[in-house]
Amino acid sequence: MIVCRTKTELRAARADMAGRVGLVPTMGYLHDGHMALVARARSENDAVLATIFVNPMQFGPNEDLDTYPRAIERDLAMLEAAGVDAVFVPDAQEMYHEDAQTHVETTGLSRILIGRLRPGHFRGVATVVLKLFNLARPDAAYFGWKDYQQVQVIRTMVRDLDVPVRITGVEIVREEDGLAMSSRNVRLSPEARAAAPVLHAALLEAETLSRGGASVARITARLRARIATAPEAELLSIDLRDAETLAPVRGRPTRPVVALLAARFGDVLLIDNKVLNPE
Ligand code: PAJ
Repeated sequence: MIVCRTKTELRAARADMAGRVGLVPTMGYLHDGHMALVARARSENDAVLATIFVNPMQFGPNEDLDTYPRAIERDLAMLEAAGVDAVFVPDAQEMYHEDAQTHVETTGLSRILIGRLRPGHFRGVATVVLKLFNLARPDAAYFGWKDYQQVQVIRTMVRDLDVPVRITGVEIVREEDGLAMSSRNVRLSPEARAAAPVLHAALLEAETLSRGGASVARITARLRARIATAPEAELLSIDLRDAETLAPVRGRPTRPVVALLAARFGDVLLIDNKVLNPE
């Protein structure tokens, strides 16, 4: 596996790749969720390129950029063992020009849901992902449904700017107790870690209700009540949205809706979601 620290090294590694190239962008501290993206990319392409970059542009001033967990040597060993051909691990100086002044924003999607909780976040995500696409020129790129809105932001950017990359969403990988895997889970206190599977438990109840034809209001109330049983959870948002457009939905859904949850456990922000299909 070639480890590229500069854009020049990355371009050289890319130039040596033949056939279809799959890209897996990450911020590192890898877990089985990330590795599912790598496995999917490996199975669908001739070469796989991964990136590890904790992108300052997508963190707000009071967010966890400084405490975001890092384990670069372990990450590199995991990627190598999974058959990744090259990995790009730039630092912020390498990634951004000191006078950088251009950004990309999906103006509708970036201001709703997580975008309201984290102003500027999706602008930072879209900008860095477009830069990675330009540097790596992949045929396909892989993103987890764990970050549901992020997949929609990237798909919209690619559509609107005619970026020739196929975007593939990969199912959420969970711990045995249902907690969605996340690099941030290690920062949970033992009490918060024990309580955190409540998000998934609530989503499973929502799925059952939805199959029985329940209304959006009823499903939302049940989600709220279930999460309230965990005093460690500070619920930030519950949203039921059209699974494709993320537009608000009312009444009894006739099309798939996605239930999106965001909650703080101590100072750790966790998100989870599930697509609910009507009866
Ligand atoms: P990061 O949080 O490291 O996630 C990298 C990719 O792994 C994302 O596409 C994310 O959705 C996926 N992922 C994380 N946990 C997952 C899980 N439990 N199951 C399935 N997929 C999972 O998301 C980012 O980094 C950044 O915003 C990035 C796209 C790299 C841009 O900086």
